Amino acid sequence: MKPTGVGIDLVEVPRIRDLLQRHGQRFKERTFTAGEIAYCDACADPAMHYAARFAAKEAAAKALGTGLWAEGVVWTDLEVVRGEHGKPTLVLHGAAQTHANGGTCLVSLTHTKDLAMAQVILCAH
Ligand SMILES: CC(C)(COP(=O)(O)OP(=O)(O)OC[C@H]1O[C@@H](n2cnc3c(N)ncnc32)[C@H](O)[C@@H]1OP(=O)(O)O)[C@@H](O)C(=O)NCCC(=O)NCCS
Repeated sequence: MKPTGVGIDLVEVPRIRDLLQRHGQRFKERTFTAGEIAYCDACADPAMHYAARFAAKEAAAKALGTGLWAEGVVWTDLEVVRGEHGKPTLVLHGAAQTHANGGTCLVSLTHTKDLAMAQVILCAH
């Protein structure tokens, strides 16, 4: 695997907490997949897990290159899936998968109650 792109993003958890309180289900369903929603809502403090996933989507957009949204990629095309022992993986769907041209993304997340951060590395095979 050859790294061909990298992206990083930092999100303030209170901003996401506020969006969740004000727009609830509408914000969740527009931005996150059913699997992401199920995982975050089962956590003691969902907002920080949502914030980390939001950061992962922004970081993935940076790794994949600019103009992603103009090419029809939607937030739910970028999905954080919980793997073995809680290790996250980034799964690309729809237009994001097409844009990646067979590449795969590595992702790492971290969060506190105030800040969430994600790093994504795009790899070509
Ligand atoms: C998993 C672990 C790395 C998480 O670190 P943390 O400081 O508690 O928490 P962070 O906020 O930095 O990271 C949390 C994120 O780590 C990710 N994570 C969880 N398990 C992971 C794993 N096995 N591998 C990689 N990432 C993992 C998740 O994405 C999680 O966020 P999420 O629940 O929203 O998906 C940590 O709890 C752990 O088990 N570390 C290993 C400890 C160890 O073995 N120490 C001995 C070293 S000598």
